[in-house]
Amino acid sequence: MDGLHDIRARFPAIDGDWARFDGPAGTQVVDAAIDAAADWQRSGNNANSHGSFAAAAACDALVERTSATMGRLLGADPGGMVFGPSTTANMMALTRAIGRRLGPGDEVVCTTLDHDSNVSPWLLLAEDTGCTVRMAGFDADTGRLPTEAVLDLVGPSTRWVAVTGSSNAVGTIPDVAAIVAGAHDAGARVVVDGVHLTPHRAVDVTTLGCDVYTTSSYKWYGPHAGIMWVEPGLLDDLDAYKVRPAPDRGPGRLQYGTPSWEGLAGIDAAAGFLLDVGLDRIEASEAERFDRLLGGLHDLAGVRVVGPQDAADRAPTLMFEVVGMAPLAVADALAERRVAVWDGHNYAVEAMEPLGLDAEAGAVRAGISVYTTDDDVDRLLAAVADVAA
Ligand SMILES: Cc1ncc(COP(=O)(O)O)c(C=O)c1O
Repeated sequence: MDGLHDIRARFPAIDGDWARFDGPAGTQVVDAAIDAAADWQRSGNNANSHGSFAAAAACDALVERTSATMGRLLGADPGGMVFGPSTTANMMALTRAIGRRLGPGDEVVCTTLDHDSNVSPWLLLAEDTGCTVRMAGFDADTGRLPTEAVLDLVGPSTRWVAVTGSSNAVGTIPDVAAIVAGAHDAGARVVVDGVHLTPHRAVDVTTLGCDVYTTSSYKWYGPHAGIMWVEPGLLDDLDAYKVRPAPDRGPGRLQYGTPSWEGLAGIDAAAGFLLDVGLDRIEASEAERFDRLLGGLHDLAGVRVVGPQDAADRAPTLMFEVVGMAPLAVADALAERRVAVWDGHNYAVEAMEPLGLDAEAGAVRAGISVYTTDDDVDRLLAAVADVAA
């Protein structure tokens, strides 16, 4: 695995019994993140921040350290790192604050390629404020979101554009930098859902130029938590919904209560793992497994790969159908063969119909993670061939 052959040993939960293709829904945890969370809880430092005693100072240091590591991972100002329970929760907090200054006549542009955590919070905002949400559609044949599809909807009334960094359904990666540039030219701000992108590509938020970038560490070998980077000037300016003693400046404005310190310790270690291995190496290694998977599925009779048929500009995630079988039945049959995949819409609610799929049943989804081997891929292909026969 091009230098990553030892990587599997870093994942104590992987024993080879199961071939795991469920990474897009949540990965296994890397040893360093497991140890860091456990060590924190054993350390006696479990306190709260901004106190006079040593354990409280250790909490402050943990926040600073984890923000700095996340800043390095995302190429972003550490002062904008908001830690929350999940990206969905972070998006609800963000949009609730944004909504306090939106009203009829204001517009938000969302996309049909996005996970619902970057759509529903805006739709709810529209219900609450009277603003309008406009949906940019992706190309149904290629599963790709043309830049113009978004920018054609952006105009003088657009306040926010909400776009995915990579589809969690079919992996495609829009040209986010171009979308951000066009949106900014029109005076709109941009939130990028980086949940599916972060484990698969080197991200540089400064180059992307976005105003908000979200990610969830359980998709990249860490604990269940959401990290939302908000441009520090914007963070201070938002009319945050917050309790009175919460800080008036910085990430504490959008963090509801005390973050999970053990979670932060795990986030710091998982982000450090990605930085140590290097996203470019991860991308190259995953691309080999993905080519094997995609090519293998193309060769199977009775199997239809959904959406994009090639691997260009794409995270290593795909959807497929076994002709004549419900996706759930395929997932069940693969599970009997100890191959873990997901079925359904995977919360990419708006994307199913354009992809020619049933809105609920969706398709089978398989994703490559850093620990996926050729042997795993071959097991999946053999199991699908068996099921489709
Ligand atoms: C692309 C994408 N965005 C957002 C989310 C939501 O993340 P969370 O579970 O942290 O709310 C997911 C989770 O599957 C996702 O894949």
